Amino acid sequence: MSSTTGPGEVLAAGGWKNNAELIAEVARLGWLDGRVLDLSYGLGKFWTEFRPDSLVANDLNPDKGDHHHDARNPPFEWHQSFDAVVWDPPYRMHGRPDTKMGHQYGIDVARTKDDILDLIGNGTVGASKCVAAGGWLHVKCQNMINGSTYIDQARYVIDTVAALGDFEYRAPWYLMARPIPQPAGRRQLNPRNNVSQLLSFHRLRVSPEQLPL
Ligand SMILES: C[S@@+](CC[C@H](N)C(=O)[O-])C[C@H]1O[C@@H](n2cnc3c(N)ncnc32)[C@H](O)[C@@H]1O
Repeated sequence: MSSTTGPGEVLAAGGWKNNAELIAEVARLGWLDGRVLDLSYGLGKFWTEFRPDSLVANDLNPDKGDHHHDARNPPFEWHQSFDAVVWDPPYRMHGRPDTKMGHQYGIDVARTKDDILDLIGNGTVGASKCVAAGGWLHVKCQNMINGSTYIDQARYVIDTVAALGDFEYRAPWYLMARPIPQPAGRRQLNPRNNVSQLLSFHRLRVSPEQLPL
């Protein structure tokens, strides 16, 4: 299957039911054409609406996907060899393992806030290495409150990619969530974040050093 053709204009924020519907919109722009690498394939839920003809499914967990490399250190033969790379890290900051949804989201192990930011950031760098010149990098994340601190994961990813020098930031995609209501009786201190983001970056065909002054 190549790019899907849905009706109407492609929008950055939609009432999509899930990531698969969002991904299908990304594909409509041609940003998932060619050879695609999913570094955190999980249960493959990104690809139930649109599935690239050529999809390499990786996940650190040996029960998921076909390859089991750490996204932070992809094998050399993958470097610069995919037209699009997707990195959907375990970005939820629960503190303790989530026994209910943990298997699906890769949050069935305890990680600190710093562990998660390390995984998001260094995985983003690893993912970027696999993108061929002219290709696409798509990173999923969600800003959230941790304790009383607002963790702007999107800004962290955008800054990480900007520091690489040869990617341009092309779009945030916004997926609205339907959060489970919190227990009543406690005063709310912060707005509940009910949106996750997919951030899309395009790798330049030449590095900035090669550009004429
Ligand atoms: C949010 S889930 C991905 C869900 C997936 N997109 C799906 O549709 O089912 C995060 C995944 O990242 C995997 N993971 C965690 N650390 C990783 C690493 N260092 N390298 C590659 N995959 C990793 C987890 O096993 C988990 O499956």
